[in-house]
Amino acid sequence: MVDRWTRDSWRSKPIVQVPEYPDQAALQAVEKQLASYPPLVFAGEARNLKDLLGRVASGEGFLLQGGDCAESFTDPSANNISANNIRDFLRVFLQMAVVLTYAAAIPVVKVGRIAGQFAKPRSSPFEKKNGQELPSYRGDIINGPEFSPAARAPDPARLIEAFRHSASTLNLIRALTHGGYASLGRVHQWLLDIDPKSSKRYIELADRISEALAFMQACGLDLEKHPELKTTDFYTSHEALLLGYEQALTREDSTRPGTWCATSAHMVWIGDRTRQLDHAHVEFCRGIMNPLGLKCGPSSKTDDMLRLMDVLNPQNEAGRLTLIVRLGADKVGEMLPQMIRAVKREGRSVVWSCDPMHGNTITATTGYKTRPFDLILKEVKSFFSIHASEGTHAGGVHLEMTGQNVTECTGGAHAITDEGLNARYHTLCDPRLNAEQAIEMAFLMADLLKAERASRAKPLPAVSGL
Ligand code: PEP
Ligand code: CO
Repeated sequence: MVDRWTRDSWRSKPIVQVPEYPDQAALQAVEKQLASYPPLVFAGEARNLKDLLGRVASGEGFLLQGGDCAESFTDPSANNISANNIRDFLRVFLQMAVVLTYAAAIPVVKVGRIAGQFAKPRSSPFEKKNGQELPSYRGDIINGPEFSPAARAPDPARLIEAFRHSASTLNLIRALTHGGYASLGRVHQWLLDIDPKSSKRYIELADRISEALAFMQACGLDLEKHPELKTTDFYTSHEALLLGYEQALTREDSTRPGTWCATSAHMVWIGDRTRQLDHAHVEFCRGIMNPLGLKCGPSSKTDDMLRLMDVLNPQNEAGRLTLIVRLGADKVGEMLPQMIRAVKREGRSVVWSCDPMHGNTITATTGYKTRPFDLILKEVKSFFSIHASEGTHAGGVHLEMTGQNVTECTGGAHAITDEGLNARYHTLCDPRLNAEQAIEMAFLMADLLKAERASRAKPLPAVSGL
């Protein structure tokens, strides 16, 4: 017998990775206030995303999910206002999507780690510096990154601030994706500011797209009448970590009574540190109708994964569950085939997505937390080749990336070195791919996807009688 789920049933379960708020009454007041705010997204939108992911699960699409490790209330690159940051991210993301769609001829489902990615799990609850010990930074929705007792104290007012930031970010994204900026007629404009040397391949592809559009127009097709070419569907996601915030924004779907939607984002995921079967995060997520991600790190046991699938997707609904595998380049070869076989054996429908970031984090000789681009690529390549041998679909990728020209991951076209990391290391948490590295990654994945599709294409029927 499964216990009844309510928005707050998670409160009676064990929980990890939560801050200790000194003022519980203030927290409750803020949660109450949030519960009266309008939803950020609608259940109908989350359902559309689930349908699209259902198609990915059956091999007919690719999930591109990415964005900051941790979004910030204040832009860390001081010379840039946050509207530029959002636009630059979207521009690079759209470029990646176009590379994948065109080269691999497959629909790309676009999901940002954006408009709510503010809470972070940490490996240690405390941070020590020069003999002083303070609570770790847990993301802008909880405390501040500065190393001072005042900044590091969890502050409930930050929940309201996170809601406001999410709302204004989402508003800009909706305007950009539906107001003309995302029109395919602008494939060249998305490129502005990027070094022409490393964007050669993209320019060639953009030229081909423009030619195809001109050809269709010459044939009499009125492009203005085709919203598919002028707008794009873009969805939001974040880790469902701060459950008080998520609960306050969880609302009953007015069109389907008894169905509950986390209206903080279209999709949420359960992190690698909070996926214990009988704990609060799994309890909360099992009851919401949104598409869910589940991070699967090296400590994942296949039996536990199957039990989590029973709890999170008891009806085996296509598109409900995305397994975001983050094993690291050295472990993926050994662990992923067993995972795939177990899921196949049980007849489970999932989207297989590769997070090549979180299993490949190292400390550079210069002390920075970094990720070598080569290792990131290596994990993605292994992910695709394992799926090819298992006969399953490499369904997506989950990246930490930015539209800015940061220096956080070593390697890439500009061969960023350990010494070079210092130049523009802006992340508040984990190192992200910069714009050029992200596009290089998109081209690599387009080639891999193209190969996957070619190998799956049915052989032409034999022609007789000629
Ligand atoms: C993240 O996605 O930023 C994260 C913390 O990932 P994981 O839960 O896989 O460690
Ligand atoms: Co991260």
